[in-house]
Amino acid sequence: MHLSNRAQGVSPSATLATGQRAQALQAQGIDVINLSVGQPDYTTPQAIKDAAVAAIQADRVNGYTATEGVLPLRQAIAANLATLHDIHVAPQQVVVTTGAKMALYALFQVLLNPGDAVLLPAPYWVSYSEQVKLAGGQPIEVAPTDSLKVTPAQLAAAVTPTTRAIVLNSPQNPSGTTYTRAELRAIGEFAVAHDLVIVADEIYGELLYDTDQVAPSMLGISAAIDDHTVLINGVSKTYAMTGWRIGYAVANPTITQALKTLLSHMTGNPAAVSQAAATAALTGSQASVAEMKAGFKHRRDVIYPQLAALPGFRLTKPAGAFYFFPDVTAAMARKHVTTTADFVDLILNEAHVATVTGEAFGLPGHIRLSYATDLATLQAAVDRLRAFMSD
Ligand SMILES: Cc1ncc(COP(=O)(O)O)c(C=O)c1O
Repeated sequence: MHLSNRAQGVSPSATLATGQRAQALQAQGIDVINLSVGQPDYTTPQAIKDAAVAAIQADRVNGYTATEGVLPLRQAIAANLATLHDIHVAPQQVVVTTGAKMALYALFQVLLNPGDAVLLPAPYWVSYSEQVKLAGGQPIEVAPTDSLKVTPAQLAAAVTPTTRAIVLNSPQNPSGTTYTRAELRAIGEFAVAHDLVIVADEIYGELLYDTDQVAPSMLGISAAIDDHTVLINGVSKTYAMTGWRIGYAVANPTITQALKTLLSHMTGNPAAVSQAAATAALTGSQASVAEMKAGFKHRRDVIYPQLAALPGFRLTKPAGAFYFFPDVTAAMARKHVTTTADFVDLILNEAHVATVTGEAFGLPGHIRLSYATDLATLQAAVDRLRAFMSD
């Protein structure tokens, strides 16, 4: 069977691969705790499910919709940006997609020519580099500082005449690191000066724990930065709606038009019933968002000190998202393993806890553990890791 170079050049998602290995052990009857997944364990709030059912029953979601999504949803997204960030965009600047993943995929397709470079400050989410490659582009990793935040000086050292874009994810998957508005401004001004597009992935923006505020946005800082920014967001993480597959991009008219044209041939439109559900999520009571946020925060606060106290684990408290990303180089040395992938395998096989290797995020020597699971399970996982590390 002949497969394209494109298909052969793409690596499978490492987070999904670990999950599959965990499932294989579970199928053998082994009790594995799976902390590799990146989705809330909460169920979609009842009011959102009810709105979806009502839309189905009223025959409002049988047909194709506009490629960019129905107007009420795009209006709801614009209104949400105004409420949360005092950012004012027109619904015409919003393109709704089949998950934020599709927004990012389509965006790299419209931005990149073969050989164009995209700066990826490490650690970065697994799909960015593969999506850039699928668009014929070149992912350029920018090594992290101790704070796991990239600086304009580092970007200046990495930028070349072929650089087209920077991906900035805040709060960040895998470490929860969150940029301040001043830091975003500095990076935004750098991007404007070099005429780069800023891909601002803010999908964890409402999951910021030591404040009742949301994380600062790259949009709304200055008109010039707005013009260079594509905001990526979605309902997956905030509303426990990963399976509904609704994300969106907010961009200038040139980019939104190109995205619409491309998506009209790729997906046609995101599922109409999911659009109805997402509209209800954004326009209804936000009490469930606050409840879920409080739940994630409590888990983080209980588990973080225990994880930080494990021999050979070093980490700062994640400000947002729902992952821990400890530096485990000293733990690896204690266990006499040299690659992080081997360390992850050892933890899986001996402690029966599934984690994800930092190599998948461009940062070996770290592992990612999700705390989007209930506290009793998290506690059992930490107890297993403690026993494993004291062997
Ligand atoms: C940083 C980041 N961006 C985007 C996504 C994609 O989310 P979705 O496609 O579910 O909207 C994820 C999901 O894990 C993520 O972690």
